[in-house]
Amino acid sequence: MEKSITIRYKEYDIHNSEAAEECELLKYAIQATDTAYAPYSDFHVGAAVKLDDGTIVIGSNQENVAYPSGLCAERVALFTASAQHPGKTIKSIAIVARNPQGQLVEASPCGACRQVMAEIQTRQKSPLQVITYIGNDRIRIIDRVDDLLPFLFEL
Ligand code: THU
Repeated sequence: MEKSITIRYKEYDIHNSEAAEECELLKYAIQATDTAYAPYSDFHVGAAVKLDDGTIVIGSNQENVAYPSGLCAERVALFTASAQHPGKTIKSIAIVARNPQGQLVEASPCGACRQVMAEIQTRQKSPLQVITYIGNDRIRIIDRVDDLLPFLFEL
């Protein structure tokens, strides 16, 4: 039997007041791109997470000459938040990327980061909102990780 699923998300212009809160977090993610260490890809990714008490934690991609040893911006931010603020709910994560020319370009989290987001959401029993810059002054808002990673791996 063929079945289908629906993926829910919203897209806004960054100047739209309906997305003001999300755009605010995006600004922290943009600042975080300055802390990326990306000599191999020259792709600078920034992430900012907001906790339930309003605390902001940033992360950026950290590369290594042994390529798989590096880590994406999203996981740097999420794991830092979990380590430094255990027990606090992570409300949202904003993600942006700069190409080698320094321009902001579409950012979409990789599969491994989605898996980490999914487990955080399950663990905290509260939705984790994902905000991505998608170019041309537009953002995408995904209110829960289920819409980024259906049929996720669980033990
Ligand atoms: N990268 C991230 O930081 N986040 C993603 O979701 C995808 C990729 C980083 C990893 C690597 O440092 C660079 O971008 C190029 O893949």
